[in-house]
Amino acid sequence: MVSAAVLTVSDTAFANHSLDNSGPTAADFLNGRGYQVLHTEIVPDDTQLIRQAIVAWVNDSPRPIDLIVTTGGTGFGTRDVTPEAVSPLIERHAPGLVHLILSSSLKHTPLASLSRPVVGTIGTTLVVTLPGSTKAVKENLEALSSDGVLDHALDLIK
Ligand code: MTE
Repeated sequence: MVSAAVLTVSDTAFANHSLDNSGPTAADFLNGRGYQVLHTEIVPDDTQLIRQAIVAWVNDSPRPIDLIVTTGGTGFGTRDVTPEAVSPLIERHAPGLVHLILSSSLKHTPLASLSRPVVGTIGTTLVVTLPGSTKAVKENLEALSSDGVLDHALDLIK
């Protein structure tokens, strides 16, 4: 079974965990697709804290988490640092999956052009950064799962 972890990146949700809707939305989606969500965490928009959470899951025992989904902090605001936090950790970037996220999102809203998603692998872990709204999380995970793309990507990095 594919193991997964969901990281919510948001100052607001970090201050009040009950305000986190996008993390549970991502976790529910992944659980519903048969993935096993083993960890969820909320961090503020802080580069070091984002990195720490991801590195811990990549080094998870007894084996790395297969899929890490982050939500939030991908936008154009000066507090949005998720791409800058994640990008240096990525060993192999997946521009095709970024393209899939952006091209499908642009069918929903031109505001998707303000999102700066990063997708790629660290060892045998696939990391996907999604926007912060529940709507975007659902739309993006639907797009990534279409025609078995996400499952196939995960199969290829086992
Ligand atoms: N992508 C999809 N599929 N659907 C959406 O509603 N919202 C956009 C965009 N991507 C959206 C989307 C908006 S309004 C913003 S500001 C950016 O994602 C960045 O979001 P973030 O800063 O919460 O990460």
